[in-house]
Amino acid sequence: MSILTSKHILLAVTGSIAAYKAADLASKLTQAGALVDVILTPAAEKFVTPLTFQSVTGRKAFTDADLWGGEAHVLHVGLGQGADLLVVAPATANTLAKMAHGLADNLATITALAARCPILVAPAMDVGMFEHPATQENVRILCGRGVYFAGPDEGRMASGLVGRGRFVEPAELLGHIRLTLGFGGKLAGKKIVVTAGGTQEPLDPVRVLTNRSSGKQGYALAQAALDAGGTVVLVAAPTALTPPVGARVVAVRTAEEMKEAVLAESAGAEALVMAAAVADFRPKQVAGNKLKKRDGIPQIELEAAPDVLLAVASTRLGAGAGMRSRKPRIVIGFAAESRDLIGNAESKLQSKNLDMIVANDISAPDAGFGVDTNRVTLLFADGRKISLPLMGKDEAAEAVIEHLAALLETQ
Ligand code: CTP
Repeated sequence: MSILTSKHILLAVTGSIAAYKAADLASKLTQAGALVDVILTPAAEKFVTPLTFQSVTGRKAFTDADLWGGEAHVLHVGLGQGADLLVVAPATANTLAKMAHGLADNLATITALAARCPILVAPAMDVGMFEHPATQENVRILCGRGVYFAGPDEGRMASGLVGRGRFVEPAELLGHIRLTLGFGGKLAGKKIVVTAGGTQEPLDPVRVLTNRSSGKQGYALAQAALDAGGTVVLVAAPTALTPPVGARVVAVRTAEEMKEAVLAESAGAEALVMAAAVADFRPKQVAGNKLKKRDGIPQIELEAAPDVLLAVASTRLGAGAGMRSRKPRIVIGFAAESRDLIGNAESKLQSKNLDMIVANDISAPDAGFGVDTNRVTLLFADGRKISLPLMGKDEAAEAVIEHLAALLETQ
């Protein structure tokens, strides 16, 4: 998670029962390498203590006692000045109202007024309070001033009532924080299409032919592209993963559906990163009803499934009038190989008309399908080859996205 490494995050915690979840958020941010300075309002201190946050961040947590204590000179300005992002989470209706109207009666709201960094707010309040015209007006004012919002979600409140006002879960809020920090990055304003997961080819209404792709590398690529500020469309075959916050997901099942989605989404996109494990073969016949044991063991005849990258390559070559506009500027493929890694990857780089191919040796137990790590070699159309050491799939994704950004700059 290099986007959070050494980032200075100010976390203002206000008086909601969801304040305990802010401790989890502070912990997650710290584990991801961020420097987290927490400010508690007097109401937040009724729910959680500064010690809770100090224990997970390893840094002092501030309260109004510090504001009036006289030890720190202009503490409110100092905290706001050094920060990359101010996160107000959970944000009560009261704090939203104060922020909207410039009221500054505690260290958190004074800091919000003094801060010059981006502000992200995650509201938490009981049913009715968020929908109230007064709160809605305050939200509008803050949005108009460029404040970002995460949530609130719909669901069950601590009161037992159900409605809109729930604090977003810390893992999701972390995604919003990454998204906000990524704005203005190298891929800002650029549409990047990423594919992920293994396609499923139906045999009958309950059975499919598929492969062992977990989708982890593709999802990590989508996250890395978001971290770089890209506008990300994730064309996803079925996986068990949660999509990164900010990605628009187009769910597909078969190779045919993936081809259609990729062709439609790559129109006008800056780049296509084809990490999905797309079926090469599919059953020629799809049974309308479930195949029954009593009918004997079926003989399954296969036929070729569409090759998505070849379909994209043919549009890139300008086959047919009007097709040129479909061409993504950069196309990156993956090569999953169990032998002759570089030779096979080189021929795919050429035959699929790619700008870059990420070759990975799926025979190694610590790389490729299912595991969290990968060892890849990047091969470029201009003949360059870069071998990367064994690393996490998220780090490999960041490396690929760095090279993608460089290719977009030079081509
Ligand atoms: N790919 C594709 N459509 C397919 C199969 C693969 O677009 N029907 C893409 C993959 O997403 C990947 C690249 O092509 O980016 C190479 O995939 P890989 O499975 O390594 O190679 P194949 O093209 O399937 O060739 P082979 O079976 O000979 O290894």
